[in-house]
Amino acid sequence: SVTEAEAKPVNKPTLPDAQTVTSVRHWTDKLFSFRVTRPQSLRFRSGEFVMIGLMGEPDAKTGKAKPLLRAYSIASPSWDEELEFYSIKVQDGPLTSRLQHIEPGDEIILRPKPVGTLVHDALLPGKRLWLFATGTGIAPFASLLRDPQTFEDYDEVILTHTCREVGELTYGAELIQSIKDDELLNELIGAENLAKLRYYPTTTREESPKMGRITDLMRSGEVFEDLGVEPISPDRDRAMVCGNLAFNLEIKEILEGFGLEEGANSDPKHYVVEKAFLD
Ligand code: A2P
Repeated sequence: SVTEAEAKPVNKPTLPDAQTVTSVRHWTDKLFSFRVTRPQSLRFRSGEFVMIGLMGEPDAKTGKAKPLLRAYSIASPSWDEELEFYSIKVQDGPLTSRLQHIEPGDEIILRPKPVGTLVHDALLPGKRLWLFATGTGIAPFASLLRDPQTFEDYDEVILTHTCREVGELTYGAELIQSIKDDELLNELIGAENLAKLRYYPTTTREESPKMGRITDLMRSGEVFEDLGVEPISPDRDRAMVCGNLAFNLEIKEILEGFGLEEGANSDPKHYVVEKAFLD
């Protein structure tokens, strides 16, 4: 069940690069999202990540504490006045064992230097954009799917999200619902553009309407049949991939099998990949 915390009065920053937590939502016992204030000077491209974290424990010898930082995709769109992040909770994870307890009014450290490859600039123009995510790998796509450019650049946008359990799909399902229902987003992106969005959630360890790893569903052709679309081709299709390491490697091989080549900021091609954060 989802729990939501409301904002408390903002405290005075005390950390280097401090930002204040404005809201926290716990989606499952292993997943949460939170929003923080945005540094006024921070500009980023949808799909990029920043380093965020907390102060570490003081060193036993020197007594000095160093920041404990990890790469987190920004899940909010670039026009949003706050920043949103989506995270796992790892009980013995150096950062997330502590980060999972943040509350509105608390501070986190945020280095305002956005980078990453899951950006429109790293892809050649195409007709159809595939966004392939597992687990918290949906975060950069939560940003891209609220960016009007994503829909202006393509005729069709397909988000696939594979998780172990049904509850892990809720963040994405709510995101898609809000994109379709939210008045502000509708106005920003346009109803005709939103009609381009398709959503294909699957689970692997709990019963749901669509079971199986997206990689297997691509190899068998089932995903193309289900969506009623042609298989992937380099003339038409572009893809962004974000998930666990094994998934990234497997889907790369599948996409290359369809003739797609990996792009980068400096060398745009047919698909791009980034690892989802794991503490
Ligand atoms: P599975 O349950 O079959 O391992 P995780 O929570 O471990 O990060 O996994 C998130 C989702 O990614 C799970 O549904 C998992 O399926 C799936 N997954 C893990 N490895 C791969 C892979 N090599 N190819 C496709 N999907 C994968």
